Amino acid sequence: MAKDAIVSTELAKKFETEKETPYTRWVASEGLEIIPALYVRNLRTVELKPWARRGGNAVFVNHDASRTSNDSYVMEIPPGKKLEPHRQLYEEMILILDGRGSTTVWNDEGKRITFEWGPGSLFAIPINTLHQHFNGSGREPARYIGVTNAPPVVNLYEDLDFVFNTKHDFKSRFSGEPDYFAAKTEQKGFLLQTNFVPDAVNLPLISAKERGAGGGHIRFNMAKGSMNSHISQFPVGTYKKGHAHGPGAYVIILSGEGYSLMWPEGEEPKRYDWEVGTLIVPPNMWFHQHFNTGPTPARYLAFKHEVVSIRNAQGVPKAWISRRIGGDQVDYADEKPLVRSLFSSELSKHGLTPRMDDAYATELETLPPKAVA
Ligand SMILES: [Fe+2]
Repeated sequence: MAKDAIVSTELAKKFETEKETPYTRWVASEGLEIIPALYVRNLRTVELKPWARRGGNAVFVNHDASRTSNDSYVMEIPPGKKLEPHRQLYEEMILILDGRGSTTVWNDEGKRITFEWGPGSLFAIPINTLHQHFNGSGREPARYIGVTNAPPVVNLYEDLDFVFNTKHDFKSRFSGEPDYFAAKTEQKGFLLQTNFVPDAVNLPLISAKERGAGGGHIRFNMAKGSMNSHISQFPVGTYKKGHAHGPGAYVIILSGEGYSLMWPEGEEPKRYDWEVGTLIVPPNMWFHQHFNTGPTPARYLAFKHEVVSIRNAQGVPKAWISRRIGGDQVDYADEKPLVRSLFSSELSKHGLTPRMDDAYATELETLPPKAVA
């Protein structure tokens, strides 16, 4: 039985006025569409419309609870063009999907920094700084995806002039440090302490055995913002453990090929195929699981908002903890037979076989006993 919780029109009508928000009205007033997506096959080719105020072409992609957390939008800068200077009282993280160019960031005090980017570059815009993006090519368009926390900010203030035209430097976030957008390599645990990654596709990662199958992982907290992001990679012939968390993770495939399974509790998994540029947005508390079926390692970037992470009393995300002890991660030992049979048959199309035996064996060493029903 489907569990998408659809109710009568009569009850739905009573909540109709709460469906639209100042944020959704703002997007509509800019003449732009919102794709209500859990899956976009390719961000690099998704259709865009002119965004007059910014000077490029764009579309918004929102998850099912974006009114309370974060949104995303895809922006294209036409060949030889630049976007208009812009400031915003919210945070933004950017991944360059295609093209080369530069960005200038400055504050009211007049401190100004310009840095260059190319495909796979990752950075954040410090809150309320003035900034302008330039396409460095006269022939090719440049395209990026930005993930922001605009929805709660626009919903809170409603006043667009305040959100987009307030003169104030948040100096603890940015005060014109000359190396602010330099690529730094210092790590603290899983965290890479930098405001700029030149090439997220080829960035070295750190081993993360907790998520299964010898994966690599690295986390970012850029421009001292409240949103964070991470990259995960998994080797040939492997897949990650299924897990669930809150809404607001925008997962973008950076390299490799494969698919994700997603399902709400109690339903059959559905399959979503990927390629470089695919966006997966797991809905609130849906289980999801990522599979590498190609001949190379597969890597994705996840942009997140804190509401994604439902944590235990120690502060550990429950998506990292076994369901057997109350977490939201499905152990390999507890997954459905379909998960393994589908993976084997997809790998065989490339003449490959699963390389999961070590991961299954390692899990058994520390697997908590199954609770007695
Ligand atoms: Fe996830």
